[in-house]
Amino acid sequence: SHSVLGVMDTAKKPEMGIPDMYIRPQEPPIVPDETIPVFDLKSLLYGNTRDTELDTLYTACKDWGFFQVVNHGVSSQLLEKLKLEIEKFFKLPIEEKKRYQIRAGDVQGYGTVIRSKDQKLDWGDRFYMVINPVERRKPYLFPELPVSLRDTLERYTSELRKLGMALLGVLGKAMGMEMEEVEKLFDDGMQSLRMTYYPPCPKPELVVGLTPHSDATGITILHQVNGVEGLEIKKGGVWIPVTFLPHAFVVNVGDIMEILSNGTYSSIEHRAAVNKAKERISIAMFFNPKFEAEIGPVKSLLSSENPPLFKSMLMEDYFKGFFSRNLNGKSHLEKMR
Ligand code: SIN
Ligand code: FE2
Repeated sequence: SHSVLGVMDTAKKPEMGIPDMYIRPQEPPIVPDETIPVFDLKSLLYGNTRDTELDTLYTACKDWGFFQVVNHGVSSQLLEKLKLEIEKFFKLPIEEKKRYQIRAGDVQGYGTVIRSKDQKLDWGDRFYMVINPVERRKPYLFPELPVSLRDTLERYTSELRKLGMALLGVLGKAMGMEMEEVEKLFDDGMQSLRMTYYPPCPKPELVVGLTPHSDATGITILHQVNGVEGLEIKKGGVWIPVTFLPHAFVVNVGDIMEILSNGTYSSIEHRAAVNKAKERISIAMFFNPKFEAEIGPVKSLLSSENPPLFKSMLMEDYFKGFFSRNLNGKSHLEKMR
């Protein structure tokens, strides 16, 4: 494989038209009558009606695979700083961002991995990297970022780690996992992030910001950095746009959580659309089991009525398999049958 840099330079010259490699009309979204479920973190963790809330959360993960979380405790000052830093980064001259370009055979860094010569490109400029465990950080990525961005991402990562672990705890509890089982998998787990800058596009209906996919993660916490929308999820066979509440994060169940739950929770397909007038920035934080963990349906959930639907394998091997394919549609562990 090799990689290409983002779309920013193309997007700066709209008079040149949209190059063929970006043209990929998609089914248009349909605005739904209902919005994705919303949860208040404090009541999920400590509320009087906690048991009822956990039942509602279970249903949300089964029927939607996506929900919003408010009252999450991450400060708006930090989010404001994050916005400034990420904007500043993507606006750096291409020569400066190039030093972080994804290297041959790798998937981390700035740009897009190219695996076939007729591969279509997304209308987005992105940066993916592993953040935790610290010894997995690539020396030429995170440590080499501009200091103020690095410090801000470090703070954001540790704030989100607390939130992510709390959410994994309640998601596990809601499906009947023991806290110890959650901790055994996710403590010191693998955490990675992707920042994306989607420039405006003169013909947004002809391009895709992010190819439809489901996440190969435990859970993902998505923050819409500059408040501009574009996330679309597939529900009931149609694409529906997601409207974020102010100060909310969007959380989704990934393939690994679907596997752990033995297929009860749904890791659903989603994509990002782009905007005609506005730039859009997002940051997705991915939470995964530790590399040494064995992932498969959680033992305590299995019985003769609920036999395992997926095979078990090591997290490390799962990742190798995932990253050797292209992001497209659903990608998970082999089904048993
Ligand atoms: C986004 O909404 O920009 C990203 C969605 C994703 O990470 O799948
Ligand atoms: Fe995703």
